[in-house]
Amino acid sequence: MIKLKPSVKLDSLPPYLFTRINQLKLEAYAKKLDVIDLSMGNPDLPTPSHIVDCLCETVKHHTKTHRYPQAKGMPKFRKAVAEWMGRRFGVDLDYNSEILTLIGSKEGIAHLCMSYLNPGDYVLVCDPAYPVHFNGVILAGGKVHSMPLLEENNFLPDFTKIPEKTAKKAKIMLLNYPNNPTAAFALDPNFWKEAIRFCKKYNILLISDNAYSEITFGDTVCHSIFEFPGAKDVALEFHSFSKTFNMAGWRVGWVCGAKQLLYPLEKFKSFLDYGVPTFIQLAAVAALNGSQQCVKEQAAVYEKRMRKMVDGLNKIGWKTNYTLGTMYVWASLPEKLKKEGSLSVAERLLKETGVVVSPGVGFGQNGEGYVRISLVTHDKRFHDALLRLKNFTKNG
Ligand SMILES: Cc1ncc(COP(=O)(O)O)c(C=O)c1O
Repeated sequence: MIKLKPSVKLDSLPPYLFTRINQLKLEAYAKKLDVIDLSMGNPDLPTPSHIVDCLCETVKHHTKTHRYPQAKGMPKFRKAVAEWMGRRFGVDLDYNSEILTLIGSKEGIAHLCMSYLNPGDYVLVCDPAYPVHFNGVILAGGKVHSMPLLEENNFLPDFTKIPEKTAKKAKIMLLNYPNNPTAAFALDPNFWKEAIRFCKKYNILLISDNAYSEITFGDTVCHSIFEFPGAKDVALEFHSFSKTFNMAGWRVGWVCGAKQLLYPLEKFKSFLDYGVPTFIQLAAVAALNGSQQCVKEQAAVYEKRMRKMVDGLNKIGWKTNYTLGTMYVWASLPEKLKKEGSLSVAERLLKETGVVVSPGVGFGQNGEGYVRISLVTHDKRFHDALLRLKNFTKNG
C-alpha cells in the first residue's frame, strides 16, 4: 500500500465531533446498551406528509426531474424562497439574483469560506459555535479569531472586545441566532444594527446563519438580518429546511443576499456540484408554499420537551434555564464533573449509562463546562435519561 498524508489543513483538524460520538454509539449498541441519544441535532419527527407526497409524485410522474438540476436552483424554488422570506420577514429579495440553493447550509457555509478566504485571512467566529463555523475557516486556510459567548453576556459576542488590529484584518464575521449550541436568542434589533455597523466600518462580510429561525416557543418571533437597514450592503443569510420542516436528510437549504456578495459562492459551486436534485427542490417548494401549521406544531413539541428536560436537569444539579426556542438545552455541568472536562464526562456517560450528549468543548473552548442536550427523542425517554444522569452524578 502506498503511504500518503492528507493535506496539512485537513490533518490540523481533529475528527469531526459527531464522527467520534457516532463511533462510541456503535460500540454501545454492539454491547446491547439501551442507548438514549440526545447528541446530534437530528430531528426525530418525520417530514410532514404533504412534502413527502410531493416528492413521491414528482419522482414517479415527472421523469425530467431525474436529470441534472440547475446548479443555482430552479427559478420556481428561488421564487418560493423569495415569497416565503417576504411573507415571513417582510423582506424584499429578487428571486433571480439574490437567492442561491444549497445542499444544506453546512455545505454552503464551508464553501463560502473557500470562495472568499486566502491563506491567513481572519474570520470572526463565535466560541462556542456550530463546528462548521470554525472548521470551514480552517479548511479554507483562514484563521479563526474567537468571539467568546459567555453566560454573563447572554451568550452574545461583545464587538467592543475585538481588537482594532484584528477587525482590520478580518474578512468574514459569522453569527448564528437562534444559537446552536447555547440556544441563545438575539431579539434586540440593536444587536444586529451594531453588527452591521461594525462590519460596514471594517469591510467585513457578515454571515447570519438562521437555521433555527422557525423553532421558537410561545410569542417569540425571530428576525432576518435583512429587516435591518443597510444589511444588504454587508450581509448574507443562510437558511435550512433541515430543522424547519424536519428535512435534515433531504439536504436542501438556501443563502440569500446581494448578488455581488453571493456571486463568489455561486461561481465556486459551479465547479464543484450540480446543486440539489430537482425533485427535492420541488418538494421544498411544497414545504414553503404549504400551510406552516406543521412548523408551529413541531415547535410546540420541542417546547414541551424543553420544559421537561430543563426542570429535570435543574433538579439533579445540572443548571440550565428555559429557552425561547431551538431544539437544544445547554446545561452547565455540576462542579465536581466540571473538573473532569465535558469530553471525558460525555464519553463516560455514554459508556456507563447509554445516555449520549454532546460535550460542550466540541463547540469551542468556551463550551467547556457545559454539555448540549438535543431534544430529539420522545419525552417518554426523558425520565429514564434523567434518572441515569442523576445516578451518574452521584457516583461520578
Ligand atoms: C447553526 C447551524 N447551521 C447550519 C446547520 C446545518 O444545516 P443543514 O442541515 O442545512 O446543512 C446546523 C445543523 O445542525 C446548525 O446547527
